Amino acid sequence: MENINNSDTSSNKKIILSGIQSTGELNIGHYFGAIKNWVKLQDDYINYLFVADMHAITVRQDPAALRRRSLEVAATYIACGINPEICTLFIQSHVPAHTQLAWVMNCYAMFGELSRMTQFKEKSEQHSDNINAGLFTYPALQAADILLYNANLVPVGLDQKQHLELARDIAVRFNSVYGDVFTIPEPYISKEKSAKINSLQEPIKKMSKSDSNINASVLLLDKTDDIIKKFRRAVTDSETEVRFAEGKDGINNLMTIYSCATGRAYDEIEREFSGKGYGDFKLAVGEAVVSVLEPIQKKFNGLMSDRAGLEKILKDGAEKAAHRANKTLAKVYKKIGFLQI
Ligand code: TRP
Repeated sequence: MENINNSDTSSNKKIILSGIQSTGELNIGHYFGAIKNWVKLQDDYINYLFVADMHAITVRQDPAALRRRSLEVAATYIACGINPEICTLFIQSHVPAHTQLAWVMNCYAMFGELSRMTQFKEKSEQHSDNINAGLFTYPALQAADILLYNANLVPVGLDQKQHLELARDIAVRFNSVYGDVFTIPEPYISKEKSAKINSLQEPIKKMSKSDSNINASVLLLDKTDDIIKKFRRAVTDSETEVRFAEGKDGINNLMTIYSCATGRAYDEIEREFSGKGYGDFKLAVGEAVVSVLEPIQKKFNGLMSDRAGLEKILKDGAEKAAHRANKTLAKVYKKIGFLQI
């Protein structure tokens, strides 16, 4: 496979691609569940990591806030340990091939398939006043994101698995007509328990950017006092014992977070807090999270104060990404019969 990543010119490393929408502030679920994993994988793969600002507008966004968040999400990737020298880091709207291929994908994704997407159904309920066509064809754009880079692996949370399966189905369908054009991507769902962080207020629900209860999520940029406060207010149960067990969703979630932040296993955590109450435990979780986030926030602030430096990284990233993406797009255009002159 042709390889344009300058950090890797000889090996046949596999290609990883992933992105996060710039719709809201990132929380510890994004870090422990996604970005931390990308950081771990970055040396062993060719990485395309992007900010999905085009997906973001399927729900109304304030333009200034969207602009700011796109930059912040990119800075957060780097602050969390993504090395832009190794990874191709870019903003989706900076690479026009995404929308160009998305149109083609639209013509190979079936109405029935798109109608079955859980996220579409959920978002249609949440935004019943704005069920736009983009919300419906969202997975076709996502398929374009993935297939443009011949991604082998796509690290996603469980909520995105259905979209990834659709991208695979489209790729297989397209290849069966036109030959071997697209690489068939595989989902990469982390085996670690770190993969899913839940809401602190409703611990059976995923910690989400769009949750209106501010105590439900710990944001990556939250102040120390707020982090401690949010953990103090976390919903638990009527028992007193720190142990991982069915029905103890609040405590299980806190143990998962503590485990992610400290690297300790559940049985170690149970021993550490045996005989102690939930109050002590919640404080310890808060403090552990603060110590993970402090250096990230410091790095984030440094990056944001050098806007020109950040823009340079994103400009270089978009150029590298476009180089790769345009090759795939040209191949697709040729195969489907668009006139070449
Ligand atoms: N839909 C993903 C989310 O909501 C973001 C995303 C867009 C994505 N395109 C992608 C993730 C391609 C993986 C691969 O978080």
